[in-house]
Amino acid sequence: MSKPILISGIQSSGKLHIGNYISALKNFVYLQNSGRYQCYFFIADLHSLTSDFSPSEKYKQIMDIALSFLAAGIDPKKSTIFIQSQIPEHSELTWILNTIAPFGELKRMVQFKDKASRQDDVNVGLFDYPVLQAADILLYDAEIVPVGEDQVQHLELTRTLARKFNSKFKKIFIEPKELLTETPKIMSLSDPSKKMSKSVPETCVFLDDSPEAIREKIKRATTDSGREVTYHPETKPGIANLIRIYQGFSDLTAKEIEHKFSGVNYGQFKKEVAELIIESLRPFRAKKKLLSRKIGSVEKIMDQGRKKASAKASQKMKQVKKVLGLSKK
Ligand code: TRP
Repeated sequence: MSKPILISGIQSSGKLHIGNYISALKNFVYLQNSGRYQCYFFIADLHSLTSDFSPSEKYKQIMDIALSFLAAGIDPKKSTIFIQSQIPEHSELTWILNTIAPFGELKRMVQFKDKASRQDDVNVGLFDYPVLQAADILLYDAEIVPVGEDQVQHLELTRTLARKFNSKFKKIFIEPKELLTETPKIMSLSDPSKKMSKSVPETCVFLDDSPEAIREKIKRATTDSGREVTYHPETKPGIANLIRIYQGFSDLTAKEIEHKFSGVNYGQFKKEVAELIIESLRPFRAKKKLLSRKIGSVEKIMDQGRKKASAKASQKMKQVKKVLGLSKK
């Protein structure tokens, strides 16, 4: 029997930070190397058009994610990596799924409500975002989708759409499952009640930050009262966040980290957190720098990925059109 298909995507909407690295990139590499799946990883550039962007920056942002995929260890020999907008079937299937998508359910999407409340000019693309995501997944017969907790509702919608299409027309879609891998959740360095976000650069460690910038940002991170490095997310959220960052780069448990730093003060602990991040990202940074000088060969790799993905997507879309009576039997 062939291995189950796994798919996930990252939006190309700016620089990646250590939260993205721990929860997405590093995890993708781990899943790829487990050898248990046929992996597809893609750059969700169509999704990224639903928030403000600058066209002159866009291609650079797309290639930056491609470089990060490769530098982190996603291997084009093991996984199919591609750019969403280069496979027109994503848009095509979105339209078909739109015609069966329940308006009421889309209106209840938490991410939509959240983003819409922060945007003056709410575009239909933002509303339709989860349907495009469903198309991304259903097009490849994916069974497994590694995502964060905030994407579970989108996976539920994907299953709803698959089920609805299957029962209304013909059973051709697989109902996928989310894979919620246990990765420590990284919060803002200044306000540990909020997710780390690139929109506040001083409170966010980017993968491309220099070692000096990383040291400075960690040094300035909020800590809590008390003096011991102990993991109490409720009463010591700042230190707990730094412990989770340490966890993300060391694979030690919170208990092991407490033990390692018992008797160590906050200042010293912060230094060690910064050095661990810098050391862990060193090979990533070196590889990315090297690749950035060979953009042509990275584009070639992405084009090979496009061909592989396209073969699968076009076959599925043909099947969809037949089932709907849009093409000859
Ligand atoms: N919405 C996802 C996120 O913000 C990104 C994404 C787009 C995705 N399409 C996908 C993830 C398909 C998994 C599968 O994280």
